[in-house]
Amino acid sequence: MRVAVLTSGGGDAPGMNAAIRAAVRAGLDKGWQMFGIRHGYKGLISGDIVPLGARDVGGIIERGGTFLHTARSPEFETREGRLKGLNMLEQHNIDAVLIIGGDGSQTGARELSEEGCTVIGIASTIDNDLYGSDISIGVNTALNIALESIDRLRTTASSHDRAFVVEVMGRNSGYLALMSGIAGGAEFIVVPEVPSTPETVAEEIRSAYQRGKSHAIIVVAEGAECNAEALAQHFREHNWRLGFELRVTRLGHVQRGGIPSVFDRLLGTRLAASAIEYLDRGKHGIMVGLINDEVQTTALSEVVANKKGLDMSLLELAKVLAE
Ligand code: F6P
Repeated sequence: MRVAVLTSGGGDAPGMNAAIRAAVRAGLDKGWQMFGIRHGYKGLISGDIVPLGARDVGGIIERGGTFLHTARSPEFETREGRLKGLNMLEQHNIDAVLIIGGDGSQTGARELSEEGCTVIGIASTIDNDLYGSDISIGVNTALNIALESIDRLRTTASSHDRAFVVEVMGRNSGYLALMSGIAGGAEFIVVPEVPSTPETVAEEIRSAYQRGKSHAIIVVAEGAECNAEALAQHFREHNWRLGFELRVTRLGHVQRGGIPSVFDRLLGTRLAASAIEYLDRGKHGIMVGLINDEVQTTALSEVVANKKGLDMSLLELAKVLAE
């Protein structure tokens, strides 16, 4: 077997390198030849395919990002582009491809699979919005970075009796905001799944002070209509006399960088090693993910057809805990 590994998507995720390493070494252990497709689907189309030996994936488990690089590829969204990619796989005699990435990547994986390519997806995105995995590679590290930032902001917020708005990533999902907000003891959490207005946020901050709090932390998801920019603009424009000072911090890409946590290294390792096992058993057209703490597979068609929702009971719990 000649098997290639590709990391793709709008965003890299800490733990992707652990997954590449595990896939390559587990594949070599089967006596297969392993390859890396550099720069995601863009590299697939241009044939940026390199052989990978055991030593090539040494010293990467502790590194964030993806040493294979990743890129967006509008060309791959067209059938013509995908056929070019398939042609490249044929030219390099690649029998199967492992695709490590989020929903866009798994959509590409499903399309390749429908064209007859042997594909297995591996769940990886910090947004944790991928159906078919309770938690995907990168989420734990991103959450820890967000949490550390919230903890740091709380110390300065408490010294100055200030309110802080902290914006976290997540695209259209409120998962990172909800979880980091609960773990960081946020006074209020704004997620895209539940509409909020700047007035509601102001009211929540005011109410926190009235309940005797000396400062407040509001965690907002970037995908919420009422995100950091919207809040900052509203408070500036209306020159609100809130009786307290408000500061806004956008964490941005800091959340995607840095050293992968133990959890993400182990998750990347387990999912990729399992993908090799499934391939060996002749399974494909599936994505491997973690469900109920076990590595499980979901058909790629099901992965792309479904959206993972937010646990609304946790949002309710967050409100109770902010009392
Ligand atoms: O999907 C991962 C993610 O980090 C999102 O949380 C964020 O909205 C997006 O990627 C940012 O993309 P880019 O790196 O292209 O700005």
